[in-house]
Amino acid sequence: MKFTSETLRETYLKFFQSKGHAIIPSASLIPENDPTVLFTTAGMHPLVPYLLGEKHPAGNRLTDVQKCVRTGDIDEVGDSSHCTFFEMLGNWSLGDYFKKEMIPWSYEFLTSPEYLGIPSGDIAVTCFAGDDDCPRDEESAALWEKCGIKKSHIFFLPKSGNWWGPAGTTGPCGPDTEMHIIRNHAEADKLGPYDFDKAPAGTFLEVWNDVFMQYNKNAEGKYEPLRQKNVDTGMGLERTLCILGGKESVYETDVFENAIAEIERLTGKQYSAGGETTRAFRVILDHVRTATFMLGDPKGVVPSNTDQGYILRRIIRRAVRFGRNIGLPQGSLKQVAYTIINKYKDVYPELEKNKAKIEEELEKEELKFSKTLQQGIREFEKVTANLPAGGVIDGLTAFHLYDTYGFPVEITGEMARELGLTVDVDGYNAAYQEHQEKSRAGSEQKFACGLADHKEETTRLHTATHLLHAALKKVCSPDVEQKGSNITEERLRFDFNFARKLTPEEVAEVERLVNEQIAADVPVVMREMTLEEAKREGFTGLFESKYGERVKTYAIGTFSKEICGGPHASSTGELGKFKIVKQENVSAGIKRIKAVLVKE
Ligand code: ALA
Repeated sequence: MKFTSETLRETYLKFFQSKGHAIIPSASLIPENDPTVLFTTAGMHPLVPYLLGEKHPAGNRLTDVQKCVRTGDIDEVGDSSHCTFFEMLGNWSLGDYFKKEMIPWSYEFLTSPEYLGIPSGDIAVTCFAGDDDCPRDEESAALWEKCGIKKSHIFFLPKSGNWWGPAGTTGPCGPDTEMHIIRNHAEADKLGPYDFDKAPAGTFLEVWNDVFMQYNKNAEGKYEPLRQKNVDTGMGLERTLCILGGKESVYETDVFENAIAEIERLTGKQYSAGGETTRAFRVILDHVRTATFMLGDPKGVVPSNTDQGYILRRIIRRAVRFGRNIGLPQGSLKQVAYTIINKYKDVYPELEKNKAKIEEELEKEELKFSKTLQQGIREFEKVTANLPAGGVIDGLTAFHLYDTYGFPVEITGEMARELGLTVDVDGYNAAYQEHQEKSRAGSEQKFACGLADHKEETTRLHTATHLLHAALKKVCSPDVEQKGSNITEERLRFDFNFARKLTPEEVAEVERLVNEQIAADVPVVMREMTLEEAKREGFTGLFESKYGERVKTYAIGTFSKEICGGPHASSTGELGKFKIVKQENVSAGIKRIKAVLVKE
């Protein structure tokens, strides 16, 4: 069968639906209540509470296609395989089935002519070799062999190769078994069962990962057995399309087809030209797609100098720099974004819904950087002209390029590498820190409440966020909606649609309403129901769903009613005193409030 991104998504979800799985929608790219990572990096990420034992409203067999961002390798984007955004096909058992169901299903999906139709002889698998924490995974190896995988194609690897845990340092984890397509049989046939890592690059291509999550890695680095044994799988959509279509690169799959044509039209250059031209195309394709998904997310991000906003800024600016190299006219990133929106809008309707915001923010950021890019490049050339090969750009200079010309230090680093130079990043950080300390208001620190348990603290702030949201609806306008939320141990941050800053009187009234609810010690009541019922009962929320599955609702008396995944405090009396510490302007029509809970 010939697959497109559309048919591969559908085929995967239908297969697991036929095995009793509920299809759930992709969660936001911005993790809810998780200060350990900036973006959702895998399908399991939004499901962590359920992997740890909380009940999922849709049941204990789930499948989805999750939008993910991994930014560790931004500088590598431009080669044939790296992407910062990708979609992960996944399925989960929450304490339900385990290895003896999952491995035969993986085999069936990969090899059956009804599904991917990959010849069994072209598949190699790796299993966990065992260590002091967890025994060798003989069971998986035996199951693969029983399915029909050749014994000589079953390999064993230690934790470095066959163990999976979430991006944070703690959380659910376990041994995994990975499936690879054999691209070079002659090399694969030379390998013994422990030699998988010794194969030359290109011998195998990883296609799917089944994780058997049976441990929780705690803060001391110990592996505690979980109450329930889970399965977590992940298959990269673009990579699988690339393999099935026999393509050289993920950029040559259908997801980028229209965007490539658009860049060719705008620049008069050809994607297939090779060398630096192809590299620039790929950087633009990847970065514009990632920026489009970040800006278009229901909990959208906008470019800024911190956290997710900084990553977005860096990505857009890197796209602008590479665009310059192939003559992409200024202001045309949005044209490329339109092709991405068109390609994905049926699967991710939020892109079409947020089209105006995507366009506005891309245009604004591109213009801002374009203004200083040329001057910045001249400055860069001036300071590097006299540096010998292997020389170092000092921290103050790198900070100057950032502060005055808007060059994220990573971009300066990349430009330096192109000339065989490096940047003194520690020196840059010191200069940055010094600058921050001079200008920091310090107000947040003052209110930090120092409660012992970080998880408890973020839970309380999450409940306070619901109260704030409800109070804003009453004080500002019933049309106020959540546009973004981020909670750290110290504070909550809430973005919402409103044309102007709140007056001091309005701020005081919002605080009064929230503190009134806290003083009344109202229980926080969780109920599960269908999305339709929730809407009927007046619960608000991000209606990301297309599948009509069951949702969790949280009610705080009649004051606040939201659809939400939790967790929450059990009653408002646990919260402490609510205080707004800052108001900011995020973009036209979007305001931001930072607030804290002060220990009484
Ligand atoms: N969570 C696993 C991965 O990302 C499936 O590879």
